[in-house]
Amino acid sequence: MKNKLLLISFLIILKNVLFAGEGMWLPLFLKQLNEKEMKSMGMKIKAEDIYSINKGSLKDAIVHFGGGCTSEIISSQGLLLTNHHCGYGYIQSYTTVQNNYLRDGFWASNKGLELPCSGLTATLISRIEDVTKDVLMGTDENMKDSERRIIFDKNIVDLQKRIKKEAHEDVFVRSFYNGNQFFAFITVTYKDVRLVGTPPESIGKFGADTDNWVWPRHTGDFSLFRIYANKDNLPSEYSVENVPYTPKHFLPISLDGVSEGDFTMVFGFPGRTNEYLTKEGVRQIVEEQNPVRIELRDEALKILDKHMRVDVNTKIQYSAKYASISNAWKKWIGESQGVKQTKGLEKKEKMDLEFQKRVEANPLFIPYRNIISDLDKNYKDLQNLSLAKDYYAEGFQRNIDLYNCYARIKKLIATYEGKSEKAFNDQKNEMSTNADAFFKDVNTSIEKEIFKTLLEIVVKGVDQALLVPHISEKMKLYKRDYNQFTNDLYSQSLFTSPDSIRILNALSYPQWIAKVKSDPVWMFYEELNYFITYGIQSTAGNLEDNIAGLRKLHMKSLMEVFPEKRFYPDANSTLRVSYGQVEGFSPKDGMCYKTQTYLDGVMEKYVPGDYEFDVPTKLRRLYESKDYGQYSEDGKMPLAFIASNHTTGGNSGSPAIDAHGNLIGLNFDRVWEGTMSDINYDRSICRNIMVDARYLLFIIDKYAGAGHLINEMKLVHPKGKKKKKK
Ligand code: ARG
Ligand code: GLU
Repeated sequence: MKNKLLLISFLIILKNVLFAGEGMWLPLFLKQLNEKEMKSMGMKIKAEDIYSINKGSLKDAIVHFGGGCTSEIISSQGLLLTNHHCGYGYIQSYTTVQNNYLRDGFWASNKGLELPCSGLTATLISRIEDVTKDVLMGTDENMKDSERRIIFDKNIVDLQKRIKKEAHEDVFVRSFYNGNQFFAFITVTYKDVRLVGTPPESIGKFGADTDNWVWPRHTGDFSLFRIYANKDNLPSEYSVENVPYTPKHFLPISLDGVSEGDFTMVFGFPGRTNEYLTKEGVRQIVEEQNPVRIELRDEALKILDKHMRVDVNTKIQYSAKYASISNAWKKWIGESQGVKQTKGLEKKEKMDLEFQKRVEANPLFIPYRNIISDLDKNYKDLQNLSLAKDYYAEGFQRNIDLYNCYARIKKLIATYEGKSEKAFNDQKNEMSTNADAFFKDVNTSIEKEIFKTLLEIVVKGVDQALLVPHISEKMKLYKRDYNQFTNDLYSQSLFTSPDSIRILNALSYPQWIAKVKSDPVWMFYEELNYFITYGIQSTAGNLEDNIAGLRKLHMKSLMEVFPEKRFYPDANSTLRVSYGQVEGFSPKDGMCYKTQTYLDGVMEKYVPGDYEFDVPTKLRRLYESKDYGQYSEDGKMPLAFIASNHTTGGNSGSPAIDAHGNLIGLNFDRVWEGTMSDINYDRSICRNIMVDARYLLFIIDKYAGAGHLINEMKLVHPKGKKKKKK
């Protein structure tokens, strides 16, 4: 019995060691750092099949989509797969009352009908080079972080001129490991990218905000684009002469699905993580910063929801804004809760103590002895300043539309001062012409309700020594009547309606600027910005600089003090590989999440006519007749699955790849319980969410009838699960 227990616990330990899902690894170092582990987890290909500069490899199919999302090439004709929410803006730009592509979907039946997307770029990585030595040249440890950055920047400019590249290639350099290493990325950016197809929102955004970050999930969050190139296969602006891009590699798509325990890999462009913070750094995020941001957004969302529920127009007007405010809000709530649930702070503290113990024990590490205490001190000094910045950003900028109008006017002034009166007049007239569109999604009475509510929270919550003097004076004057102040602010300003904007912008510069400068909204935001710059940032900037320098040293010392550990660099929007396995988890005592969902779940969630949970008639018919073609599994239509790949924002649209290098899914989200993976990955609850590749194919083929797109792709059976084509 005892032996059996021992064996089981040994196996559990071994499993945890072998199948660590944590890490966003540099493709360049997979061979040294990861290949062995990946193979032990079931990977059948080699590191150089993933990243190689000598031959076509998986990396040649991975594309940075519009700079924010990831996408991948899935045919020899440059067909590009990404999320619906990544393509959203482009789909929306082609949506009209007559052609409601958001509501009904869109499928180009031939290449001539694919829709150009102005401004959309697709960036491929030619190669990655370690340029640490070149960038660090002339710097030393004792410099202030801001001084060091000036030298980096100069070195980088020199390097960009020097580095070997083709005329159509670009180079950019990014800092890794908090400024300890630097890599150059030689890239090719295609500028003619066209919309090929998208399911309706009732599939691509099924479950919308209610289901966002949630498992079990049933969203077919995908859309299709295509890269076009000139006749030499090189980047070119949009032209009718352009032809579909021929990739060096494209991903075959597996029809065999996944099972519990299967190896998975996600290859993409994760945006930003902070995995190596000390306990105090994490504590401030989850116990100080998140609660402030959440409290303000709670109120903004409550007000929006109240109005959106009773009025259809308001619902339409505010749905995009609601989605964007609620996305981060929901993530922060999950993040704080996840750290608490997994005792993240205790774990960080243990790590800090172990670091300190090893540092104290080794004379070589004398320079590292005060890092943690110095970081603590700087974090503590910064806390109230940084909270004040959060109060102001969330209270008056991100969640308030008035701010956008102020920002537009401010830009006009910059145009006048920097360019010419003509450019100024042109932009001013354009603003008047588009004023109705600018205010299309603004309802002033709702905005006022939000402003008033957030104002009160800010005034009461912010460190009183850091309350903007202008606001403090106004509050005294108004005897803290937030309502009256807000009413007066909006009614006395010209920044609040299309009509008032047109009246303002009809004036010539001298009168215009005089009116602007006496506008109460202008004064409010100018005073706010002035105070943030000179009352907060003047001090906060130095502390932030100290922290950046200390974090650089901390990162370097962690790598020396824990030589037995592998360290991956924090995400910074560069190409990374994450790997894990298909696995469920227990989010709470007594609860267990399975790995796979099916179309059946869509029908369980179906609410006829609902804006989040309606199901298109055709999809219901396909479900009823079980008309799933070659895409089903045991008579059911697989829809989404989870695995322990370490991902973050920016990984949206990343391919989930099987042991053989085939596409098995499309990454689009993480489970809410594990969103703290950005600051403290914990395999017990951190999972990424992917649409099953077979569901995409089913929608394209059976729902949209776009079989010509399926014909372009390469469908494979790596597990030999071939079945008869229906
Ligand atoms: N949570 C996903 C991400 O972080 C999806 C966001 C888009 N969907 C939404 N309902 N807001 O980007
Ligand atoms: N939806 C996210 C994105 O747009 C991915 C989810 C995450 O944050 O992991 O990148």
